[in-house]
Amino acid sequence: MRDHRLPFTGPALLAPMEGVTEPCFRDLVLQRNAPTALGGAFTEFARVVTHPLPARNLATHLGPERFAAPVGLQLMGQREDALAETARVAESIGAPVVDLNFGCPAKGALRTCAGAALLDEPRRIERVVRSCVQAVRTIPITAKIRAGGRDDARLEEIARAVEAGGARMLTVHCRTREEGYRGDGDWTRLRRAVAAVRIPVCGNGGINTHVDLRRMFVETGCAYAMVGRAALADPWIFSGRTVDRAEAADFLLEYARSLASRMRAKRVTVAGRLKRLIRTWSAGGLFLSDRTWWLEQRELEPLLERLCGVAIGIGGQPVAGRPDGCRAETAVLGLKTGEM
Ligand SMILES: Cc1cc2nc3c(=O)[nH]c(=O)nc-3n(C[C@H](O)[C@H](O)[C@H](O)COP(=O)(O)O)c2cc1C
Repeated sequence: MRDHRLPFTGPALLAPMEGVTEPCFRDLVLQRNAPTALGGAFTEFARVVTHPLPARNLATHLGPERFAAPVGLQLMGQREDALAETARVAESIGAPVVDLNFGCPAKGALRTCAGAALLDEPRRIERVVRSCVQAVRTIPITAKIRAGGRDDARLEEIARAVEAGGARMLTVHCRTREEGYRGDGDWTRLRRAVAAVRIPVCGNGGINTHVDLRRMFVETGCAYAMVGRAALADPWIFSGRTVDRAEAADFLLEYARSLASRMRAKRVTVAGRLKRLIRTWSAGGLFLSDRTWWLEQRELEPLLERLCGVAIGIGGQPVAGRPDGCRAETAVLGLKTGEM
């Protein structure tokens, strides 16, 4: 029997973010928020160009770990046949949801008429969604759009095309393609999308705090809300828990260890990924007074040593339930002796 029900365990979701929401970062966020607080996440987009993607490629995006909250696999492309076959393969390897990306404004996507390029062609969006819906057996197909291309005049038309194609949820990033990532985002567009379709709408764009997250449901009527960049600054934004410096540092140390051991990332890559988070990180007030120092470091070791010091409470409070700070030490040792 076909079911297609949405598997999310709560109404707040982690947005797909290329280069960031790979399994190492995503799993840590899923571990640190209860499934009621963080109801699900998505992989960064998997690009489908001319041929369907093989199971091996899709499995890498999904990662080996499973949590109570599901991780949907996002696909981006413009060829109906290749996308549909990839959606079928995704279901066969256990993806609980397949999401279609109609919002990416990157030049590469626009050049190949994928992502946000399709916002100007709602009928094609409908056809792509329908072909994927017909290719899978039981999992839901969802779609993520922007409020429009040059402007938001066709928002309702695009939203209805997604619904007509058979998608089970519509995520609306409230900025247009033209607006890129600028500004706070206009949430009245989310209300308009909610009014235009009967399927659940997931609002996205401009959530900066846990209070914003709650507010989006009230002000827009969205059934789901998706957090992007603010979760990179505070991975606890979903639960609204305020963490201390030690806990925040421990997250970053674990992230570094995971990148090194699971992805076999090189030192320079680990340092780059850490600094990318440090640039906007706010949890625990970690870098408030000396962010520049952290960003100026070229080597990985000084970053890890200072993070470890904070995590085990040197010059601060000891980590609760971890008097010897063993895990944090091991993280550093693992990185120093690992294959990097
Ligand atoms: C670094 C980065 C990578 C992104 N990659 C994707 C992606 O792979 N797929 C997608 O649908 N959206 C992607 N987005 C867009 C986000 O999912 C989200 O729609 C956008 O950031 C707006 O939400 P925010 O204001 O909460 O950040 C990306 C955004 C950023 C900043």
